[in-house]
Amino acid sequence: MTQETLTIKDNSTGKEAEFSLLKGTVGTPVIDVSALHKKMGLFTYDPGFVSTASCKSAITYIDGENGILLYRGYPIDQLAEKCSFLEVAYLLMNGELANDAEQAEFEHEIGQHAMLHEAMRSFIDGFHYDAHPMAMMVGIVGSLSAFYHSELNMDDPEHRRISAMRMLAKMPVIAAACHRHSIGFPFVYPRADLSYCENFMNMMFSLPSQKYIDKDNYIDPVAVKALNLLFILHADHEQNASTSTVRLASSTGANPYACIAAGIGALWGPAHGGANEAVLSMLEEIGTVDRIPEFINKAKDRNDPFRLMGFGHRVYKNFDPRATIIRKTCHDVLEHISGNDPLFDLALALEEYALKDEYFVEKKLYPNVDFYSGIIYKALNIPVDMFTVMFTIARTSGWVSHWLELMAEPGQRIGRPRQIYTGKGRRDL
Ligand code: SDX
Repeated sequence: MTQETLTIKDNSTGKEAEFSLLKGTVGTPVIDVSALHKKMGLFTYDPGFVSTASCKSAITYIDGENGILLYRGYPIDQLAEKCSFLEVAYLLMNGELANDAEQAEFEHEIGQHAMLHEAMRSFIDGFHYDAHPMAMMVGIVGSLSAFYHSELNMDDPEHRRISAMRMLAKMPVIAAACHRHSIGFPFVYPRADLSYCENFMNMMFSLPSQKYIDKDNYIDPVAVKALNLLFILHADHEQNASTSTVRLASSTGANPYACIAAGIGALWGPAHGGANEAVLSMLEEIGTVDRIPEFINKAKDRNDPFRLMGFGHRVYKNFDPRATIIRKTCHDVLEHISGNDPLFDLALALEEYALKDEYFVEKKLYPNVDFYSGIIYKALNIPVDMFTVMFTIARTSGWVSHWLELMAEPGQRIGRPRQIYTGKGRRDL
């Protein structure tokens, strides 16, 4: 990391001091202001962290102006085309792609950790049938810290690795269990003879009466391929809100499952991972192409809180490379599985209309990863309230990678932002 310096002068006091200008492998240079208060008695103010780097990380890099997304240096489109989700998960967690033997061992271990403690089933049954699956995910994942007390010496790298593997292995099992609970169907155990995505489809949709011999009865290879792709595209994304939440919780040394549960809670918001569910609801509300102008005008009205879900991004200001890849996959999946879906045609028309509108052009609002993903999930018969759960499964690989990176960082400190106080001055009762 190369270092130059930058001088900051406070004209109100005449104080000035030099600060290091840090440059990473690639990307925007960063002013190291960690000594700003000590040197000049000042804080920085950056609500929403628009211009603030919270950490150093070697996992993912985004160039928002040029629509570039790299996982450990590899472009997302190459990984999406050539790898499985678990190969990408290994890459994010370990820094390099596995060789055949390493990948086989990794996937064997994932299979070993997939089973849930049987006592968890009564915990899951404690939720009312109409609980939102994301509410269940927050509760169940947080409760893992009540079921798994071993391998929790966070100073032991092997304990940290096992905890990360447990999370990655159990997330799809918990997710499918939430769905089965919500429809009153029996829980389906993970199987050692199925791949990660095949297992998920099996745990979600298989019925006791169906023949287990011919697994293609209910695990369509096109659906499994689409699921692998969607999980890869949602795996990690630098310091997004949910990953930053996991990092902040982890900085206190909290139980790893509790840290991941905190990330799930952050992801649920409609401004973040909850957008894919909100996109489908929005498209269904718009209904027909002739109503698009009405909703575009609502989105442009500063007095109306409505925003066009699936559009805009804090970092991408030209296009989200993930949306480009998903948009193409939409065509393939819909053609193969369900025939065209009028919602997809509506989404294409909405995208075309918005991209010609000067408001969206001026504010650089383009379709993001969530705009098309819901349409594919719908084609795969995933219920709409499970869409953010799908995002959770995928992003667990990113969350545990950032957790491992932070916990291994020598001298990492508890995250503790400052504030501008706007309340009452000191007064007596
Ligand atoms: C994800 O961070 C990540 O990397 C997230 C993510 C990941 O992989 O982890 O990529 C996943 O969360 C994708 C984003 C999914 N969310 C949505 O699709 C919800 C709709 N989008 C917006 O809520 C918004 O665009 C955000 C939350 C995505 C970004 O918010 P910012 O960066 O804080 O932008 P902003 O709110 O400051 O908006 C800038 C301007 C505002 O207008 P002005 O105040 O300047 O007049 O653009 C407007 C906003 O009103 N604007 C929109 C809009 N998004 C921004 N107007 C209408 N519709 C929208 N969707």
